[in-house]
Amino acid sequence: MKHHKSKRSFLKRSLAVGVGLPLIGSGITSCIASSKEENESVEKLRILILGGTSFLGPHQVAYAISRGHSVSTFTRGKTKPTIHQDVFDQVEMLIGDREDNLTALENREWDIVIDNSGRKTEWTKKTAELLKEKAGIYIYISSTGVYYPYLKAGIDESTDMLMEDPVNPDRPDIQREDSYGVMKAKSEMETIRSFGKDRSIIIRPTYMVGPGDRTDRFIHWPIRLAKGGEVLVPGKPEDPVQYVDVRDVAEWIIRLAEQEKTGSYNAVGPENAETLAEFINRAKEAFNVESTLVSIPDYDFLRKNRVSFIIPWIMPTDEYYGSALIKNERGKAAGLTFRTLRDTVKETHDWWTSDALPAEHREKYESNPRSVMSREAEVIDNWKKLKG
Ligand SMILES: NC(=O)c1ccc[n+]([C@@H]2O[C@H](COP(=O)([O-])OP(=O)(O)OC[C@H]3O[C@@H](n4cnc5c(N)ncnc54)[C@H](OP(=O)(O)O)[C@@H]3O)[C@@H](O)[C@H]2O)c1
Repeated sequence: MKHHKSKRSFLKRSLAVGVGLPLIGSGITSCIASSKEENESVEKLRILILGGTSFLGPHQVAYAISRGHSVSTFTRGKTKPTIHQDVFDQVEMLIGDREDNLTALENREWDIVIDNSGRKTEWTKKTAELLKEKAGIYIYISSTGVYYPYLKAGIDESTDMLMEDPVNPDRPDIQREDSYGVMKAKSEMETIRSFGKDRSIIIRPTYMVGPGDRTDRFIHWPIRLAKGGEVLVPGKPEDPVQYVDVRDVAEWIIRLAEQEKTGSYNAVGPENAETLAEFINRAKEAFNVESTLVSIPDYDFLRKNRVSFIIPWIMPTDEYYGSALIKNERGKAAGLTFRTLRDTVKETHDWWTSDALPAEHREKYESNPRSVMSREAEVIDNWKKLKG
């Protein structure tokens, strides 16, 4: 197949010859609210998601199906969704392994590929090469980690990425695996090398939060604020915070695909700059519960007490100085929208306490003796003693 002149002509041509996906769940109708008129005006796409069953994926799947698109996922078949499980009977679930078995992707065509599961540069290189003549647009889910170390405020999409990890001066002989940010930056390059800039979309999310999150990085706040009482708030009230609801990212990615808005975008919220104090006061509104906030603005004390972050707060020092000061103007101009923090916190808590999540997962997190949650009363006590 020759290189495509335009994305649109590629899509039209492939639809005309009817290649590719036998429409799984053909006549797919919406499962989450999306207006009929809006759906009818959207060109129906055949979307392949590399991954799709963990956190970001299920939200993309549910939204794509609600807009009449057809979806295939490609996974090892190990990870089971803990959200939107009901929509997966309308999904073609292809099985393989990005490490060594891409057979299920061979001799197939899609309009859009979304690479969620890029954990190694080599994985993205192989799928982008395999699919470059078989798909219209390749969307690579990168990360704001490409900007690490975050040494300045106002990082935007044109800021240089770190392409090689520094050599350890004590052990220059040791060849380590690329760090996360370098791996993501190199994977972006592989995407563009195979698909070209005009058929690539690069998404760089900051910390994604919301229902289905298995990283357990944010759940501290919904659990603590739902419980109330004395709540430790580490950091200076004016410290900046950034985070983004996974659903806002997932839905925006599908709209970018529909509109063929190629390019690189930070996926960073909230909409406008937010301080730690604003964050905690907005998050608290999710529950009708009394909380007494105990602000601990002393970084040295926090370090000694092993509290250097509770996402979205990260101590904004050294290499994390600008990690919550990343620009989101380009994303907003391209249609990234934001739920309220109150909804994010409430709905994340609803998901956490629902049957969708295995009880063992909850118990493991809530009983971890090293977590800030388990040590909170002790840290507050230490603080009060210090302050007399
Ligand atoms: N979470 C955040 O805050 C955050 C922030 C910035 C960027 N990101 C990026 O966002 C992306 C989305 O992550 P997600 O977990 O939400 O995505 P997801 O698509 O919902 O889940 C990851 C998928 O990868 C599949 N997978 C894992 N190993 C595989 C292999 N060897 N071969 C084939 N499939 C494999 C898993 O299924 P099986 O286990 O069944 O194979 C699972 O479906 C990631 O690239 C992450 O780096 C995340």
